[in-house]
Amino acid sequence: APAMAADIELAKKSTLNEIVARGELRVGFDAGYMPFEMTDKNGNYVGFDIDLAKELAKAMGVKFVPVNTDFDGMIPALLSDKFDIIISGMTVTQERNLRINFANPYIVVGQSVIVSKKLEGKVKTWEDLNKPEYTVVSRLGTTGEEAAKRMLPKAKYKSFEKEADGALEVINGKADAWVYDMPFNVVFMAEQGKGKAIHLDKPFTYEPLGFGIKKGDPDFLNFLDNFLSQIKNDGRYDRIYSKWMKS
Ligand code: ARG
Repeated sequence: APAMAADIELAKKSTLNEIVARGELRVGFDAGYMPFEMTDKNGNYVGFDIDLAKELAKAMGVKFVPVNTDFDGMIPALLSDKFDIIISGMTVTQERNLRINFANPYIVVGQSVIVSKKLEGKVKTWEDLNKPEYTVVSRLGTTGEEAAKRMLPKAKYKSFEKEADGALEVINGKADAWVYDMPFNVVFMAEQGKGKAIHLDKPFTYEPLGFGIKKGDPDFLNFLDNFLSQIKNDGRYDRIYSKWMKS
């Protein structure tokens, strides 16, 4: 009857069917967020998210198509169909979850702080930064920015459009602290921070990261959750994890 016709109409529009028919999985992410998504010397996209996305495309029997997109515009880009899915280290926040759906989290991270060498001994925990004399930086539109503003309301805050630029402010002595997802901070310290900054490496927020899709698409959500539980238990997830997350 009419309800059934509507169901069939909806099923035809499911992203899952579209992807399979197209033969391509278009993945939105923002390169520069180590170790999840970066651009290598040859201009290829690499990282934890990229490998998961490729594994997902393989499981669907389709080609992986990267769509590098500014993180601050990631949700609008998904909603206007620039790609099929966000795999971009996106924290499942309730605010974002009002606008999009998330598959079950694929990893949990938290914010940590990289502090200027000048403040060694003076700033021992992130809470010590909550003073008007300190300038804290993070990236525009991220949970790092939210955490800095919410948890360090007395400090000055400045936003950057790229992770690397914000974190370098601390190395260059122009900012006192960089607040960001801890896995990024671990890689940044190993590559550029040694001896130049201090990493307070106790995460102070709880942040599950999830694949984001449009609302109203239970077929796709079901596929993603079953895919994630499969790879978490058959060794594929562990292999990808240890490739990128060894610190
Ligand atoms: N987890 C943080 C957030 O959701 C940062 C993610 C940044 N991702 C990126 N690809 N730059 O806000």
